Parts: sequence; structure tokens; C-alpha cells
Amino acid sequence: MKVYRCNICGEVYIGEEKPGSCPFCGAHQNYFVLAKEWSLIKSASLSDVSRENLKKALDLEINNTNFYKAVSEGSKDTYVQSMFKGLSKVEREHASAICKHLEIQKPDSDVGLDKAVDSDQDNIAEANGRERRAVKFYAEAAGQALEPELKEYFKALMQIEADHIVLTDE
Ligand SMILES: [Fe+2]
Ligand SMILES: [Fe+2]
Repeated sequence: MKVYRCNICGEVYIGEEKPGSCPFCGAHQNYFVLAKEWSLIKSASLSDVSRENLKKALDLEINNTNFYKAVSEGSKDTYVQSMFKGLSKVEREHASAICKHLEIQKPDSDVGLDKAVDSDQDNIAEANGRERRAVKFYAEAAGQALEPELKEYFKALMQIEADHIVLTDE
């Protein structure tokens, strides 16, 4: 057994092998390293533009966390419940990790909780649109980041949200 750790969210995983992607934040496998080699990808200081983008990212992640939670709890379909439970957890992890960059406590917020509708199909379509906007936003944020660490961080988030587009395309 080995101890692995994620460079993006900082969570720890104990297992025989690296998971295919981070079970907590969804970061791709290359961000998962042995705990001995681990360091969180984080910039020592933040430019104004990156701080603004991190705040926007936090709003986006909290909103999606809540929307996905509401969909998961409202659906009668086991697969839809499961998918949205998983998505909500990943987005919650993103919100927590973003707070580490901003060095703030995670705010309590209900924003997005009221956005789930009765139709699974409509909720999946809404999720797909949210993930597409997230990918676009993280690509812009990566492009604008002056700090190499944040450039990499935003790119990692972009990859994760792109995986969610694939998931909600099906
Ligand atoms: Fe992670
Ligand atoms: Fe996210």
C-alpha cells in the first residue's frame, strides 16, 4: 500500500496504485503523486486579475455544487442521483481548494439550490451548459494568470470540467 496525494486539491489517497483521476477533485492522474513528492500547486502571492478570477471561480463552483446537489436529491432515477451526487462532491472540492488560494473560509451559500427543475433531461442539459461555460472561463483565467502555478491550476480545472461535458453529453 502507498500514500498518494493530489497536487490540485491536496487530498490524500491510500491504495496499491494511483487512481485514474483524483477521487476528490477529478484532477487528471499526472497531478497525483506519492505523498513524499507532494506539494500543493499554489502561488505565494496573487495578482489582481488572478484574485478576481479565483473569486469568480468560487462563485461558479458554489453555484454548481448547490445545483447538482438539488438535482441529485430531487431525481427519482438512480443513475441521475449518482451522477449529480458525484458532480456536486467534485465541485464542492473545487470550491474548498479555491478558498485555499484566496486564503479565506468557505462561505455558506444557497445560491443555485433553487435551480433544479422536475425534468432530469432538462437538468442534464443545464449541467452541460454550466460545464461548457466553466471550461471557457477556466481557459480564459489560465490565459490571464500571471503566476505559473495558477496557470497550471486553472488548466487542471479546465480539464476536469471538460470531463464533465463528456459525462453530461451522453
Ligand atoms: Fe484532487
Ligand atoms: Fe468545478
